[in-house]
This record gives sequence, structure tokens and C-alpha cells, in this order.
Amino acid sequence: MSKQMSHLDNIPSTPGKFKMDKSPYIHNRLRWHSSLAKLTFWSFMFLGLILIFFFRSPSSNPLPQDPSRRSLRTYNWGGPAWEKRVRSSARIRSRNGISVLVTGAAGFVGTHVSAALKRRGDGVLGLDNFNDYYDPSLKRARQALLERSGVFIVEGDINDSALLRKLFEVVAFTHVMHLAAQAGVRYAMENPGSYVHSNIAGFVNLLEVCKSANPQPAIVWASSSSVYGLNTKVPFSERDRTDQPASLYAATKKAGEEIAHTYNHIYGLSLTGLRFFTVYGPWGRPDMAYFFFTRDILKGKSISIFEAANHGTVARDFTYIDDIVKGCLAALDTAEKSSGSGGKKKGPAQLRVFNLGNTSPVPVSDLVSILERLLKVNAKRNIMKLPRNGDVQFTHANISLAQRELGYKPSTDLQTGLKKFVRWYLSYYSGGQKAAG
Ligand SMILES: NC(=O)c1ccc[n+]([C@@H]2O[C@H](COP(=O)([O-])OP(=O)(O)OC[C@H]3O[C@@H](n4cnc5c(N)ncnc54)[C@H](O)[C@@H]3O)[C@@H](O)[C@H]2O)c1
Repeated sequence: MSKQMSHLDNIPSTPGKFKMDKSPYIHNRLRWHSSLAKLTFWSFMFLGLILIFFFRSPSSNPLPQDPSRRSLRTYNWGGPAWEKRVRSSARIRSRNGISVLVTGAAGFVGTHVSAALKRRGDGVLGLDNFNDYYDPSLKRARQALLERSGVFIVEGDINDSALLRKLFEVVAFTHVMHLAAQAGVRYAMENPGSYVHSNIAGFVNLLEVCKSANPQPAIVWASSSSVYGLNTKVPFSERDRTDQPASLYAATKKAGEEIAHTYNHIYGLSLTGLRFFTVYGPWGRPDMAYFFFTRDILKGKSISIFEAANHGTVARDFTYIDDIVKGCLAALDTAEKSSGSGGKKKGPAQLRVFNLGNTSPVPVSDLVSILERLLKVNAKRNIMKLPRNGDVQFTHANISLAQRELGYKPSTDLQTGLKKFVRWYLSYYSGGQKAAG
């Protein structure tokens, strides 16, 4: 024992100076000690990593309902039957027709644009992720409508590069009508990630695939009147400043315009941005005021009508869907070809931005009065101060540029357009078959 203990005296106090060759016994013992220490250390590291992984993994995320996550789900696509449907839907059936990939085709504007293109013999293929920002059954009903006119909507996300590349492999699209986006101004405070996901990341992904496609398509895409933000000069002209967005939605649309400039500059993509002004009509969006006012007036629920400071009027340049569709088609028809090939720019390409509005702003209280007359029900009005959640006090488009370059000439006043909307609304939601929200 004492012999054994005496060996320990040989261990220097400074471990680094320990001489390994002094005694085989000490050597082994120390090796054992150090192995044990190493084992303990690595066990803790391993346990730590498992814990980090566990707490950061999506399955333990307390917000599984986040739509930007949901839209990352995988979709079924591919195979000979699927490719056949894609080809058939995108086949051009008229002389001088174009073949268009319409993103957001199950959406409000996307459905109307797809149907109009198909009617005149263009090839149309839809793409939509059918997210549940608003009632997906309305998107499915629009899909069924398009299906009947021969338009196939591929179910997928614009962030899915493999899917987009496949679509361009199957069809040499001449044009892309890009309408897929996270719309809505107020929802951005609830789910900012979904705006970044669809309006920025998704747009860049689409442009990446378009720039590498051969031939490169010409792209027409939806920006928004919201880029005018806090501007007070009216009517809004394309030359006005757009660097004061009042919502994240507006900021992502403005970012889209800058991104479009970059892809035009570097890769020669032909890009046309359309700044829509409050689009309304049949098959519209349930998150928009004219739509949920109609629903709530019919239910006898009170509706909130906003007013600005000092009883200032809140007004919108409401634009009827058929006028917007004409503007979209004219933008596609006047779009010049992209100039690049093989992912490289070969010369300058077209870059445009147009206002598509009605040039006739209407106070929101007048919108309510028209709805009251059409529905034959008095609204319970609750006048409230305009909250600071992204809405602006008024919008008013100067459309002279679109008039000159696209022959754009809106022809539907709010009274006429709302009459068509109400007729559709009553027939769509009749008999309580579908509950409007
Ligand atoms: N309706 C208006 O008043 C208005 C005004 C200004 C701008 N816009 C813009 O016009 C376009 C069309 O608007 P809308 O009113 O038809 O909206 P919508 O929400 O009805 O249509 C958008 C469609 O895009 C789909 N989508 C969203 N993210 C997607 C993604 N990542 N991948 C694939 N599909 C996706 C949605 O499922 C939806 O069907 C949007 O870009 C919108 O921002 C609309």
C-alpha cells in the first residue's frame, strides 16, 4: 500500500509536466482517469446536442399553425399522367397565342386572368399552394371552375425550385403571370413570416428559375398601390416616391419592385410590375372590406367604418376585376421578350411599372350605402378611428401611363361592379350550403 502511495508522490503538481514514462502503473491509471473524464465530457456534449436539437426541432414548435411553415409541406407532382395534364393545359390553341404560367391561379385575380387567357386560346397552366390564409374551399371552388374550362392548377409552392424547373422542362412558357403572394395589410402584424416567404423568397426563387429557363419567359407580376404608403400627393403617379411603406405587405411589394430591377439588369429578364388598386368583384377575397361588409350586413352584425383624424374620409380607388383583367392581358401582350439565354444577359430588356386603378376614389361610407341598397338591409355602422395597422387613408391612381402604353381604360363604376359582386355572393352562399366565414 505504502509502496503504491509512494508512487503518487511522483505525480507533479503541474499536469502538463507529467512524464508519461515514469511508471507503467501510473500510466495506466492516469490513462483510465483521463478516458473516464473524456467519456464524461463527450456524454455531456452529446446530451447537450440532443437537448438543443429537441428544443429547436419544428415538431416541438409551439406555433405549428404558422402558414409559412404549412406552405413548406411537400406536394405530389410528377409522373407521365401529371406531365400530360400540364402539357395539355398549357397548349396554345390560337394563332399568335402565348403560353402562360399563372402563379396564384386559385386566387381571386389569378382565377379571372387564367379564365380570360384560356377563353382567347392561350395556353394556361396554374400554380397555387392553396394555403388557408382565407377559406381554402373558395380556392377549391375557383379551381373547379377553371378545371371546367381546361385549366389545370398544379398544387405547389413558388419556393419549390425543383417543381418550377420541372414545369419549365415540360413547357417552354413564353410568359409568366405572377400573382401568387401573401396579400392583406393587417395580417402582416400577425404572421410577418408568410409575407417574406411568398412575396420575397418565393419571388426570388421564381426569378431564379425564369432567368435559367431557355427561352427566358417575359414576366408580368402584381405589385400594389400600397407602395405609395404615406404619400399625400394625389393622384398617385408611377413617378412618385415609394419609399415610405405603411405596412410590411407594402414593404415586401416595394422590395419586389427593386428585386425585379435587379433581375432585369443582371439577367435581361423582361419584367412588368402592375400596381393594383383595391380590386373587387365576383369570386373575390373574403378578407377585403366589401366582402366581409356584405357578409356582416346580411348577418345583422355591426361593421366598423374607419375615419381618419379630424373626421377625415377614408377612401379607396376601387377597381373592378374585369378592368384589372384587361390591364393584365394588355401587359402580357405588350411585354417584349426577355433578352438573356443560358442564364446570361445578351442585351437590355424591358422593365415597366404601371398603376392599374379606377381613377375615381370612393369613401368607404359610400361603399356601405351602395351595399345597403343592393342587399336591401340597413347596416349597423360603427364609426372608428383608423388604427395604425398598415391601412392608409386613401388611394387614388393616375392611370395615364397605362392608358398610353397598354390602352388601359377602366369602364366599371362601383355601383355596377358591386351589383355583380352581390349577385355572385348571394348565389354562391345561397341555401346555407357554404358558410361565408
Ligand atoms: N386584390 C387586390 O385588391 C390586390 C391589390 C393589390 C395587389 N394585389 C396583388 O395581386 C395578387 C393577386 O391578389 P388576389 O387578390 O388574387 O389574392 P389571393 O390571395 O386571392 O391570391 C393569391 C394566391 O396565391 C396563392 N399563394 C400564396 N402564396 C403562395 C406560394 N408561396 N406559392 C404558391 N401559391 C401561393 C394563394 O393560395 C392564393 O390563392 C397578389 O400578388 C396581391 O398581392 C391584389
